[in-house]
Amino acid sequence: MENNLPKHIGLIMDGNGRWAKKRGLPRKAGHTVGAQTFRKIVRACNKKGIGYLTVYAFSTENWKRPQEEIDAIIKLLRDYLKEAHKYLKENIRTRFIGDLSVFDQEIRDLIVEAEEASKDMTGLNLNIAINYGGRNEITHAVKTIVEQVQQGTLRADEIGEQIVADHLYTAGMPEVDLIIRPSGEYRLSNFLIWQSAYAEYIFMDDILWPDFSEKHLNAALEEFARRNRRFGGI
Ligand code: FPP
Repeated sequence: MENNLPKHIGLIMDGNGRWAKKRGLPRKAGHTVGAQTFRKIVRACNKKGIGYLTVYAFSTENWKRPQEEIDAIIKLLRDYLKEAHKYLKENIRTRFIGDLSVFDQEIRDLIVEAEEASKDMTGLNLNIAINYGGRNEITHAVKTIVEQVQQGTLRADEIGEQIVADHLYTAGMPEVDLIIRPSGEYRLSNFLIWQSAYAEYIFMDDILWPDFSEKHLNAALEEFARRNRRFGGI
C-alpha cells in the first residue's frame, strides 16, 4: 500500500451536527469533537507520509447557519491557530485557503504567523479551507487572469489549463487524487471542484466525522490502493 498512497487527499469533515443531535447535544458540541478528530487525522496523515491534505473546515455557504454555530466554528479555528506553534515539532506545513479577507484582523494575523512559522516544514502539507468555495476560487482566478491580460503581462492565447491551475489557491500543489467524505452524503459540495476532476471518491455512510478514526482513514487508503492497482499500469 505504501507505494500507492494518494499524493493529495481532500477531506470533507461532515456529520458533526447529526453526531451531536443523536446525543441530544447542541450542534456546536459536534464541531468541538470534530476539531479534535481533525487534529488526530492530521497527525495520522503526517505519520503515514501523505504529502498533501486539504480539509474543508468552513465553506462560503456555511454563513447561512445560525450565528451561534458560526461563532462556535470560528472559535475552534481561533483556538487551533493559537496552538499552531505546537505542530511545528511535527514538521507540518500549514496553509489556509479560501477568501480570507472576511475574517477579523486577529485571525488574519494568526494565519500569517502560522503560515510563516511553518513554511520550511517538510512533512505533511496541510491546507485548511475556510470561507472556501470552488466556484469562488475559480472566479477569483479568472479575474486575476483577465487583469493580467488587460495590463499586457499575459496574452489571451497563452491561457490554458495550467494558467488557470496556477491561479488557484492550490497553485504548485499536486492534483487531488482522493476525496474522502464520511456521513453518507454523496456530494462534493463545491470543494476543490477543479483540483479533483480526476480524483477517486470514497464516501463512507457508516461514520460521522467526530467518530472518524485512523481505522477509517486506513480503510479509505486501502480502497484507494485497490482502485489504483485495478486501473493503473497497462
Ligand atoms: C460539517 O458538518 C462540518 C462543518 C461545517 C464544520 C467543520 C469544522 C470543524 C470540524 C472544526 C474546524 C476546526 C478546525 C480547527 C479546522 P455538519 O455540521 O454539516 O454536519 P451535519 O451534516 O450532520 O449537520
